[in-house]
Amino acid sequence: MVPEEIQEQARELRDRINYHAYRYYVLDDPVIADVEYDRLFRRLLELEEQYPELVTPDSPSRRVGGAPLAGFEEVRHVHPMLSLDNVFSADELAEFEEKVQRYLKSTEPITYIAEPKMDGLAVELVYEQGVLVTGATRGDGLVGENITPQLKTVQSIPLKLQGDGGSIPEQLVVRGEVFLGREGFAALNRQRAEAGEPLFANPRNAAAGSLRQLDPKVTARRPLDCFVYAAADSDSVPCTRQSELFTWLAGLGFAVNPYIKLCQGLSDVRAHYAYLLEIRDDLAYEIDGMVVKVDDFVLQQRLGNTARAPRWAVAWKFPAVQATTTIEAVEFQVGRTGAVTPVALLKPVNVEGVVVQRATLHNQDEIERKDLRIGDTVLIQRAGDVIPEVVKPIIEQRTGSEQPILFPDTCPVCGHPLLRPAGEAVTRCVNPHCPAQRLQSLIYFAGKSGMDIEGLGKKSVEQLVQEGLVADIPDFFRLRKDDLIEMAGWGEKSAENVMVALEKARQVPLARFLGALGIRYVGEVTAALIARHFETLEAVMTATKDDLLSIEGIGEQAAASLVDYFSDPSTRDMIEQLLAEGLTILPPVEGEQPLTGRVFLFTGTLHSMGRNEAKQIVKELGAQVVSGLSNRVTDFVAGEKPGSKLKKAQERNIPVVGEEEFLAIIGRTGD
Ligand code: IVH
Repeated sequence: MVPEEIQEQARELRDRINYHAYRYYVLDDPVIADVEYDRLFRRLLELEEQYPELVTPDSPSRRVGGAPLAGFEEVRHVHPMLSLDNVFSADELAEFEEKVQRYLKSTEPITYIAEPKMDGLAVELVYEQGVLVTGATRGDGLVGENITPQLKTVQSIPLKLQGDGGSIPEQLVVRGEVFLGREGFAALNRQRAEAGEPLFANPRNAAAGSLRQLDPKVTARRPLDCFVYAAADSDSVPCTRQSELFTWLAGLGFAVNPYIKLCQGLSDVRAHYAYLLEIRDDLAYEIDGMVVKVDDFVLQQRLGNTARAPRWAVAWKFPAVQATTTIEAVEFQVGRTGAVTPVALLKPVNVEGVVVQRATLHNQDEIERKDLRIGDTVLIQRAGDVIPEVVKPIIEQRTGSEQPILFPDTCPVCGHPLLRPAGEAVTRCVNPHCPAQRLQSLIYFAGKSGMDIEGLGKKSVEQLVQEGLVADIPDFFRLRKDDLIEMAGWGEKSAENVMVALEKARQVPLARFLGALGIRYVGEVTAALIARHFETLEAVMTATKDDLLSIEGIGEQAAASLVDYFSDPSTRDMIEQLLAEGLTILPPVEGEQPLTGRVFLFTGTLHSMGRNEAKQIVKELGAQVVSGLSNRVTDFVAGEKPGSKLKKAQERNIPVVGEEEFLAIIGRTGD
């Protein structure tokens, strides 16, 4: 028998821990320090270990998982878990209202509640005497799977309801959506990629996969979250409308979505839809539409359900960011550093208003990991930097006529044999004279991340090379206004502008010049560190590998690459020519850090690191980080699903940087 005072102590600990977990996970407003919380938790674990009889179903210790299950038991839902009908436009929504009014035989204005449609997994939670006793998946709507231990690991699901006994019904069955936020989803896929495991296509699949783990300890490691949105039986709750239900559920300790809106009539509903669409990508989790419900429970009951869905609610879906199409062919592009990138040529398909017909396949490993073939029907999505990506093939749609994607052995441009160094994912053309590399290097040199010569964007450089006016970097500074004017599409004004820009570019800070050369492993930050250390180009050119390695932040690869680059006679020759053309290299300004003066704004999800880590890194390099868009922003870093801000940044001509480019700036990639 456990002594009375120990029982009392355990009860108090449980209540305190549950309360603080609620403050932390549901309200996002903790009132004690993490260490204090950990101390309480440890104390409870000690007591429960000493007296296992103390463990109750609502003990927070249950949140860590417990023993694996042999299989999932079935749970029959007392009330079926219905689905929702979808509408895709304001017109279809108006038809929904007409049907509702016809059914009610009334044209009275209707009050609706509009809620974000969470893109997760529907679950049912059964509380008896205020304690969570069963949690289940939706299953086929009638019978689901018992995943109680898994659901107990979801921190925002209360194990015990708050409030005094009088206000809590003997039995309460609530429904909600379990989901994985964007950061959690990206981190999970990052881990899976590292472990060589297949990736989840979207947060919904990831949430479902996490909940259906027989070992709840695995579920416990996934940062799942839950919003509730319904009671299985509206007669069992002391509320007369959906809007009241939300207030009541929140009072019991459940998390409810903060973007729920009471709407008087359809115009309010439309406005809220527009609002959600606007903020959609800024939310920490994915939503795929808005659920519109008739607010009044009496009306809901009069309307009733069809076999599949309620007549009093409808899901107004957002336009899709994903689509399916087929891979018609694969093209191999050669980049500045010789990296050969496979690009899928797709049957054109419209995704969120943009026609997509190309998507990068990254490299050979990615193709193999995703098992992609020519002729495959594939799921594609538009990622952050607007470069579409192939998520996965739809295996079920294979006909057997699909062809493997064969990586070439030789460079598709110069024919030189390709090389894939052991342990690297990238296949390269190592011919230093490969015309494709040369063109890309010239584009890079003149472009935004290089010398930033106005008027010499990608198209212009291609044209200059085509016309034979530029073959190597020094040629830029030999251009004459008359030569430019003669080219198709050029005139007096545009030629003059380029001459002015070139004149300006002749005075270049050492760091910018080093960065513009596009030396492998030498991104903007690395270039700035080197410039700050050596101060003159002469000193950089004569530096040994050890000299370079003595600089903090310069690694083995960058050092070797630099020495290699500057020991090449053709490099020295090129630099001599540049100096002869009047290029003046300016020493770095005292006290300046690599990213001093730069203003970063991050949106969307980064795959290689969390957003906070990214912010920390650039701050340490001297940059400022802001969250509001303004013309001060010098680097708009767009991760996956960057949201409406991206469009605004593009409209204002603020330089947009994708994840790859960002990694290159801070010196975290090979290219
Ligand atoms: S109400 C009978 N509200 O959408 C009412 N469902 O397409 C049905 N969902 O199975 C549920 N957010 O998984 C409701 N705020 C919300 C929702 C929501 C997401 C999901 C739920 C349902 C599916 C139907």
